[in-house]
Amino acid sequence: MEEKWRFKGNEELSQASAVTVRGVLNMVMENLSGDDPRPVIPLGHGDPSAFPSFRTTTLAEDAVCAAIRSAKFNGYGSTVGIPSARRAVADYLSKDLPYKLSPDDVFMTIGCTQALEAIVTVLNRPNANILLPRPGFPYYEARTGFSHFEARHFDLLPEKDWEVDLDAVESLSDENTVAMVIINPGNPCGNVFKYEHLKKVAETARKLGILVIADEVYDHLTFGSSPFVPMGVFGSIVPVVTVGSISKRWIVPGWRLGWLVTNDPHGILIKQGVVASIMGFLNISSDPATFTQGAVEQIFENTPSDFFDKIVNTLRESAEICYDRVQEIPCLTCPSKPEGSMFVMVKLNLSILDDIKDDLDFCRKLAKEESVVVLPGDAVGLKNWLRVTFAIEPSSLDDGLRRIKSFYQRHAKKQ
Ligand SMILES: Cc1ncc(COP(=O)(O)O)c(C=O)c1O
Repeated sequence: MEEKWRFKGNEELSQASAVTVRGVLNMVMENLSGDDPRPVIPLGHGDPSAFPSFRTTTLAEDAVCAAIRSAKFNGYGSTVGIPSARRAVADYLSKDLPYKLSPDDVFMTIGCTQALEAIVTVLNRPNANILLPRPGFPYYEARTGFSHFEARHFDLLPEKDWEVDLDAVESLSDENTVAMVIINPGNPCGNVFKYEHLKKVAETARKLGILVIADEVYDHLTFGSSPFVPMGVFGSIVPVVTVGSISKRWIVPGWRLGWLVTNDPHGILIKQGVVASIMGFLNISSDPATFTQGAVEQIFENTPSDFFDKIVNTLRESAEICYDRVQEIPCLTCPSKPEGSMFVMVKLNLSILDDIKDDLDFCRKLAKEESVVVLPGDAVGLKNWLRVTFAIEPSSLDDGLRRIKSFYQRHAKKQ
């Protein structure tokens, strides 16, 4: 007898999540040949926590253990976050702002991911559209796609150190545009926006009457000539919602502790009902573990500056190795040297390769022949580019890039 069930999965979920970094990396990794005696070199991920050079500080580990042992954080927290955590994040971020954030401006979330989910859900309404960067972080496309929230893309300009194409922002927007997203330091480009450029972003958004969502999950991971400037600095020009977490700076993405912060000295977000909606969203979602929230004040206070220095120096060294080695591979060009985050975008010149169809084909064959995993640019919005992660042990990175060079030499068109 044929079985009959009245339920089925929501197909829109599989559609919305069709292009995720993890999904595309899995597709690439299926090609790894099991019998290569050499270690696999992962240059596609965004989580270096497994590498010895990127181990978090023991002081952060101690803070979490102490929070657990105190037995003060075994219960449910408030849906907006426990007061000590909200205060700690407000103080931490205020250090770089011209005004002081209040704990009420801070909402604790499950990593930066839930903060993004919250703000996208809060802003969505019928016919609204949101402006997203290209290349970008595909979670935004997945989340807006699933919510039927129209996404329009503005380019980041490789010839201008990946600055936002502000003319495109203006021409894409209309009366239904509600917000624009910037990611700084940048994933996937490894760029760091300068103060003047961020100010122009703020002025453009002000002119258009839209909110700026500043994804600063890679805050302070900068190692070039441009220092990290938080978008909240321009909160008096335009309201800014900053999203962040301890995932990247402390290299503990598994701890799942993040925040959503309103930088809004004029109280526009309260007046527009955005703050009430954020609270509404958090009331119907789950919260980050209470003990990680309990630990965050100590994590901020106790982390020695030499931990940050060590991580940033390792990233600088790796970024340099990456940039230098890429110059030696004729089919790759890197338009600008990475100055922040953990990634760089490199352009693939297919015309000098013999049997490579596109970026995905390049990555699949590279995985198969050289046991090196790289993310096809298509996954982040740029076809026939590659996103290379340099946040791995410098020696493995060097090995990985040398293998890419031999891959090139094998596949180069004969003159
Ligand atoms: C640009 C960007 N935003 C947000 C996130 C998510 O951060 P979290 O792990 O804290 O949820 C990531 C993670 O890779 C990211 O690259």
